[in-house]
Amino acid sequence: MAGIAVEVLDLRKSYGSLQALRGISFSVAEGEVFALLGPNGAGKTTTVEILEGFRRRDGGQVSVLGFDPALGDRRLKQQMGIVLQTSGVDPYLTVAETVEMFRGYYPKPRPLNEVISLVGLTDKKDSRVTKLSGGQRRRLDVAIALAGDPSVLFLDEPTTGFDPGARRNAWEVIKGLKDLGKTIFLTSHSMDEVQFLADRVVIISAGRIVAEGTPDTLAGREKAAASIRFKLPPASELPAAIRSQAKAHGDFISIETQDPTRALYELTSWAVQAQLTLEGLEVTRPSLEDVYLEITEGSETAGAPA
Ligand SMILES: Nc1ncnc2c1ncn2[C@@H]1O[C@H](COP(=O)(O)OP(=O)(O)OP(=O)(O)O)[C@@H](O)[C@H]1O
Ligand SMILES: [Mg+2]
Repeated sequence: MAGIAVEVLDLRKSYGSLQALRGISFSVAEGEVFALLGPNGAGKTTTVEILEGFRRRDGGQVSVLGFDPALGDRRLKQQMGIVLQTSGVDPYLTVAETVEMFRGYYPKPRPLNEVISLVGLTDKKDSRVTKLSGGQRRRLDVAIALAGDPSVLFLDEPTTGFDPGARRNAWEVIKGLKDLGKTIFLTSHSMDEVQFLADRVVIISAGRIVAEGTPDTLAGREKAAASIRFKLPPASELPAAIRSQAKAHGDFISIETQDPTRALYELTSWAVQAQLTLEGLEVTRPSLEDVYLEITEGSETAGAPA
């Protein structure tokens, strides 16, 4: 059984009168991709930076690989890779010089060219940081996090500003790191990213946990009704078995059903027999984004005074 990489118990943090974290508890297993989600201001960066040892907590317990990050132990720092939400690298160094500098902080860094190639910056190896585009800078941030070959990675919105291709590449890199047994702690506003990468998610809002689960089962998503949609062929009438469930939206018909196998059977066997084509036919379930929006709607009271 995998051990626990990160443990958080009743974590609290205030900024003046603002309670940014109001007692959150969760754990992350070794080798897991864990995603912390929530609206702007929910407390994600605060949590991540406490785990990284960059911010002090007011209350609760925190352990990363068995260390309390607040104590700044070197042995922990050497096993952590970090992508901050906003990075501060020296703009006058080149890509290679930057990665080389960070490699120097770790006892067993990954080879320089391998790190640069993993994030797709080989062409920009000798460019100064000032000359990089926003997405390329973000890739450099990811390269820095990988430089030390860490066993735990904290990635605070790692792919913000990436083009779709670069995002896919980053996902593959992260999947590859998971296959190597690394633990990955991610925050993201991209539900596609979370669906693709995360084993488990916790959603926070206004400093409290409001949901947790796997991307597929969050808030009973796997049991939610499926929706079947198609264009009704002209001058046709739906079979009696599904007529009562059908709703018209302009030219389209939608059917909400708990039993899509049966409903599709009724629908398509009727269409095939009548030699009709059901244009635009699709079956969907609520996406992670649908579920996320439902959970977080109305709970965005971050910023409320204590
Ligand atoms: N250094 C600070 N001083 C004062 N308030 C802060 C500080 N850092 C964060 N906050 C406040 O704490 C709350 C949580 O902020 P945090 O950065 O953790 O949110 P987040 O979930 O990372 O949001 P985002 O999705 O926008 O990155 C916000 O209301 C924010 O304004
Ligand atoms: Mg943040």
